[in-house]
Amino acid sequence: MTEAAMTPIETAEGLKDAPADYRDALCKIVRSHAVNELYGAQVFDEPAIALAPTPYAKWLTCRVAMEEYGHHVRFRELGLQMGIPEQQMQPSGKRPLSIFEFPLKTWEEFCVIKLLADLAEILQVEDLLHCSFRPLRNLARMTMPEERFHAQFGKDFCTELCATPEGRAKVQDAIDRYFPMLPAFFGRSGSANNALYRKYGIKLRKNEEMRADFLDRARALVEDHLKLKLPEIAAA
Ligand SMILES: [Fe+2]
Ligand SMILES: [Fe+2]
Repeated sequence: MTEAAMTPIETAEGLKDAPADYRDALCKIVRSHAVNELYGAQVFDEPAIALAPTPYAKWLTCRVAMEEYGHHVRFRELGLQMGIPEQQMQPSGKRPLSIFEFPLKTWEEFCVIKLLADLAEILQVEDLLHCSFRPLRNLARMTMPEERFHAQFGKDFCTELCATPEGRAKVQDAIDRYFPMLPAFFGRSGSANNALYRKYGIKLRKNEEMRADFLDRARALVEDHLKLKLPEIAAA
């Protein structure tokens, strides 16, 4: 199952001599992160500042929003170095992922999004920590502590909300509506793109392996920690 190791590429300029399908695969990943980090910040994190119920919650939400915009800035910067046209790194030029179609209305929903969607993002970034393209590996290493903070933010505020029966009911309701959107985030099983990512040492795991790992970790958070229910989802 281990593929032949690709010699690491140290800089964006070094990509010029790399195989075209390797470069294309990296461009896909960087473009996707640039677009989705920006769109997520616009539709979830920035609006959530107004939903946050206390000055303390607003302060932390501002920090989350700042970091998500920062992720876009970093991925965009790398994308420009790789020669990706600016327009392709904007939500107007490339369609964002379906997980952002959820119409955010409440603070409880935002806390659930951070609990679960940022966990999903952590899984994606985990694989990139070992990426054969060093600039992307370095970017993943910079991003990871911040994504962990976002997931912890979600866990802490969900835990706090679950201290009252009304809060528990609202968190459960948000999980019931948001969680079913997440398994698709990992892409199709048996994906040809993913096979290429693994062949070139860009990612380590298959989409279906990542999805299974996510379901286990989400279940531990929702059922073991919060003592709520994870909705049943159809196998992807
Ligand atoms: Fe992010
Ligand atoms: Fe995040």
